[in-house]
Amino acid sequence: MNTSPVRFGLIGTGRIGQVHAATIAANPDAELTGVADVMVDAARATAQRYGGRATADPVELIRSGDVDAVVIASPTPTHVDLIEAAVEASVPVLCEKPIDLDLARVDALWPQVQAAGVPVALGFNRRFDPAFASVQARVAAGEIGELEQLSIVSRDPSAPPAEYVGVSGGIFRDMSIHDLDMARFFLPDIVEVSATGSQMFDAGARQHGDFDTAVITLRASSGALVSITNSRHSAVGYDQRLEAFGARGMLQVANAPTSLVSLSTASVVEARPPYQEFFLERYAEAYAAEIAAFICRVRGEESASPSYTDGRAALLLADAAQRSAREGIAVPVDLRAGVGSGVS
Ligand SMILES: NC(=O)c1ccc[n+]([C@@H]2O[C@H](COP(=O)([O-])OP(=O)(O)OC[C@H]3O[C@@H](n4cnc5c(N)ncnc54)[C@H](O)[C@@H]3O)[C@@H](O)[C@H]2O)c1
Repeated sequence: MNTSPVRFGLIGTGRIGQVHAATIAANPDAELTGVADVMVDAARATAQRYGGRATADPVELIRSGDVDAVVIASPTPTHVDLIEAAVEASVPVLCEKPIDLDLARVDALWPQVQAAGVPVALGFNRRFDPAFASVQARVAAGEIGELEQLSIVSRDPSAPPAEYVGVSGGIFRDMSIHDLDMARFFLPDIVEVSATGSQMFDAGARQHGDFDTAVITLRASSGALVSITNSRHSAVGYDQRLEAFGARGMLQVANAPTSLVSLSTASVVEARPPYQEFFLERYAEAYAAEIAAFICRVRGEESASPSYTDGRAALLLADAAQRSAREGIAVPVDLRAGVGSGVS
């Protein structure tokens, strides 16, 4: 068994790229040997801090022979071409979500990914959150009997800039996609999607015909129902909760406090600091576990990394949610039908 550190190339050094750089540098089974960003100064700064050489050209890095695997953390429209370059060069990939905003492009790349047989994992980090992973494992072990309902609440602290909303692909593909994958973590075989959206507060969403507030209902082939509640803002901070309700009980994940210290005075019984600010803080452990699972995948060991087809399934569900919200209908889906089909 090869136990030398996996040599990583990082593509994109923005918000999530910084998380991956720090996580790779902190993992004893990994080493950052290359950093690519079209803003080469950003690549240099990241390489200086976490290791590796810097380049402005991600494809050069992929083909250089200096990396055993790459993490793609550049903007979504770059993902398909970079995955293609990596599988062509037989370099395993961990790609950030979503694969692309266009299901047809995702499907067009699939034969190449499948034929190459190179690991391609998707950055659905929430599957690796210790609390969510524990609930999923306990549900799978039958602790609460058959899963009947899954409730996911996912609200960002504040809406993104209007320009970002315009290119994001909409709330379902950009934001709900994490929750749609979380639903599939528990109930892989979703057969129907209903969604409704609203413009409550965000000028950017109104300007671009998007929603800032959404509720999605999914039906699994078992009959179990999932509800996903999304908002682009939350006055209480990053709101990430989950409840699994089964025939014999219920498992719940509350928001993570930033501190375990509480206050009691003559005028206040209890006040705690607010919830975690955003994903960087809330999911720090999950990102570390995500990289660790991907390293297992690269080494050919057992791994829970979500796959390219998980990425495709989440995008298909997001498309169905978008259609449902626009047309006011429930949309049947067939995730087992495979690439090139699935939405009736
Ligand atoms: N899993 C998560 O929790 C999570 C969180 C945030 C973003 N994301 C996803 O990660 C991706 C990046 O998002 P972000 O918020 O970090 O973006 P960002 O804009 O902060 O950073 C993107 C970086 O990529 C660089 N870049 C642009 N084109 C490039 C190219 N062709 N090659 C190399 N580098 C290039 C940019 O210069 C920038 O430094 C998106 O797909 C997004 O959906 C995932």
